[in-house]
Amino acid sequence: MIGVLVSGNGTNLQALIDDGLPISAVAANRKDAYALVRAREAGIATATFSLDCHESREERDLLMATWLEEHGVELVVLAGYMHLLTEPFLRRFPERIVNVHPSLLPAFPGAHAIRDAVAAGANPTGVTVHYVDRGLDTGQVLAQERVALEPKSTLEERIHAVEHRLLPRVVRELCPAP
Ligand code: GAR
Repeated sequence: MIGVLVSGNGTNLQALIDDGLPISAVAANRKDAYALVRAREAGIATATFSLDCHESREERDLLMATWLEEHGVELVVLAGYMHLLTEPFLRRFPERIVNVHPSLLPAFPGAHAIRDAVAAGANPTGVTVHYVDRGLDTGQVLAQERVALEPKSTLEERIHAVEHRLLPRVVRELCPAP
């Protein structure tokens, strides 16, 4: 079973759902994440683990890992999840956490990769799916696809289209057989 972590709109979560992948749980770090609505509409269990409800990031991550395990999660997918994961979480899912990122890593890690690539005139830019470690968008690269910088007016849309194709493909390859 797959668990997905989200923070925002959840278009990548939607791509995973539409691909028919076995998602049993979706967790967010903020209760207003629209991704939670998408998950509920698909009949998937949801929970919010917001930092202000916990003593520390580590405690929050530990509870989130336990909740995912209770839902049978073996593979964790970060689909627009905007917090770094701490050791207590990473230890629970060794080599079983993947992230999608809108640049050709190691170029432009962080929360504003598309904007940063545009500012640097990086052509091509692209999309990376990679294993998660304790760093900021570091970890072994599983797949990358280039996206032309121009026309800039459609760059975000073209990057998202590639993410929505690449992420489900990689997750399907990693997914434990039913
Ligand atoms: C996606 O573009 C994803 O690559 C990016 O956040 C967006 C979430 O969109 N993630 C990062 O920048 C991680 N560093 P979504 O909520 O519609 O899937």
